[in-house]
Amino acid sequence: MENLLFVNACVRGERSRTLKLARHFLTRYQALHPDTAVTEVDVCAQRLPPQYPEVLDERDALWNAGKLDQPMFAPARQFAGADKIVMAAPFWDLSFPAALKIYLERISVTDITFGYDADGNSIGLCRASKLLYITTRGGYYANTPLDVATVHIQGLGVMYGIPEVQFLDAEGLDDVRNDKQALLAAAMERADALAEVF
Ligand SMILES: Cc1cc2nc3c(=O)[nH]c(=O)nc-3n(C[C@H](O)[C@H](O)[C@H](O)COP(=O)(O)O)c2cc1C
Repeated sequence: MENLLFVNACVRGERSRTLKLARHFLTRYQALHPDTAVTEVDVCAQRLPPQYPEVLDERDALWNAGKLDQPMFAPARQFAGADKIVMAAPFWDLSFPAALKIYLERISVTDITFGYDADGNSIGLCRASKLLYITTRGGYYANTPLDVATVHIQGLGVMYGIPEVQFLDAEGLDDVRNDKQALLAAAMERADALAEVF
């Protein structure tokens, strides 16, 4: 059975357009792959603390003692073991909400999600063959240097060793001239097409 991890960083919960798009994708994907088990991680509900000094100290102490089986590293182990990953987050301040950054810092653990070879080169240790990042934006930033989120997720995909990182978005959702429903519906059609090949 395939195991898909859904990382939900949609802060506005069920009111979130990003979450609606992600749920649409996942429903379609599951219809096409009924053997897939989807596990959802709600990063807002998780309330992981940022890596303040005492958190980092605890993490370093556990890591130095080789205690990678401790609960602190459970999110990293879960992420590393997923066959496929879907991540959903709104576009905030050219990037994504801090809650997702906290999660990403938590899962970026040497010898779990990434490591180093004998020559000191970074190598990815994640099992996932694909990661899909889903977002919606108020304005228009796709394919511009101001879309920092895409670059960040692409980079992490390389670091984690995930061969294929794909992106699905809807833009212009806060532009008063736009028909938001139509934009979201068009993105859902793209989600349907992606679900066929993801
Ligand atoms: C805190 C915050 C920051 C935002 N920053 C941006 C931004 O930098 N650029 C942009 O185009 N939209 C920005 N937006 C608008 C959101 O990207 C847009 O409304 C998105 O569709 C929200 O997704 P959601 O419905 O899933 O919450 C921001 C919204 C919030 C609440």
